[in-house]
Amino acid sequence: MATAAVRCLLTVAVVLAPLLAGADAGRPLSTGFYNKKCPNVQSIVRAAMAQAVTAEPRMGASILRMFFHDCFVNGCDASILLDDTASFTGEKNAGPNANSVRGYEVIDAIKTQVEVSCNATVSCADILALAARDAVNLLGGPTWTVYLGRRDALTASQSAANANLPGPGSSLATLITMFGNKGLSPRDMTALSGAHTVGQARCSTFRDRIYNDANINTTFASLRQQTCPQASGDATLAPIDAQTPEAFDNAYYRNLMSKQGLFHSDQELFNGGSQDALVKKYSGNAAMFAADFAKAMVKMGAISPLTGTQGEVRLNCRNAN
Ligand code: HEM
Repeated sequence: MATAAVRCLLTVAVVLAPLLAGADAGRPLSTGFYNKKCPNVQSIVRAAMAQAVTAEPRMGASILRMFFHDCFVNGCDASILLDDTASFTGEKNAGPNANSVRGYEVIDAIKTQVEVSCNATVSCADILALAARDAVNLLGGPTWTVYLGRRDALTASQSAANANLPGPGSSLATLITMFGNKGLSPRDMTALSGAHTVGQARCSTFRDRIYNDANINTTFASLRQQTCPQASGDATLAPIDAQTPEAFDNAYYRNLMSKQGLFHSDQELFNGGSQDALVKKYSGNAAMFAADFAKAMVKMGAISPLTGTQGEVRLNCRNAN
């Protein structure tokens, strides 16, 4: 009898505990968050991303970067998607984002489709996390299971974006500190930097490197100087990985080993410092890079999410409800 009573009490406790915890914020993300509430969300995002990346492969890179810039600024809360309002100046026009982050209309289009299937259910923050995962995979990179249940911020901060996102002139020590501030290890940082195996950059972001750095391959520097003059052409684009700019592979690390990192910050990962050995490993072991990148993306995707009753599920990703 006593055993049965204890068992009964335990059962009640096991059933109630998640319900009680769920009433509060701070509930962890989970893989099955939308299984019942919006079973089609993952296939909607995947199909829309496939269409966007087929139309323009660079869009995969742009969405991946958007997710990084969201997560590093007050957590993965879709704050980057908010337009400025009378009460706050948001992140879109912060230094690292203005005339640079792109793909907002792709997220809008996905959100519209998701709302048709599951009204007021899936957050913009989760849509962005899924879209970034699919972007990598569609460009030939790894895939991973996305933890879900993020909610959307009510506000955004331009000053937080300016303070938390590393610039292309950063030293290795600065990169390690800035990623460390987000709970990411130097290894995570070096793996995540492998995202620069896809996408494009403006001349203004790498001019200093191609004219003033010593640890640069001279042929590579001359090539980039042809379309990025000293005093003009700020917005002219160059591929970040000159070898395979549309393939999510490990060529980025081989570029670093031949002193062909496009940003000063990239080359800092292979410049006689603590990350040299890891860069060398990734350059020769695509599977190891893919596995570490996926792991680090899951970690980055868990930076300070709003959960439970925090924030909201936005109806339009550009505005709070
Ligand atoms: C380690 C510190 C990092 C620095 C200093 C940095 C800096 C930059 C800069 C300056 C650009 C070019 C922007 C422009 O010209 O408009 C860029 C592009 C890009 N970054 Fe990073 N980044 C870093 C880490 C990351 C991470 C962690 C990711 C993703 C996981 C990422 C993904 C990308 C992608 C995909 C592009 C190309 C975007 C496009 O073509 O639209 N970056 N980054």
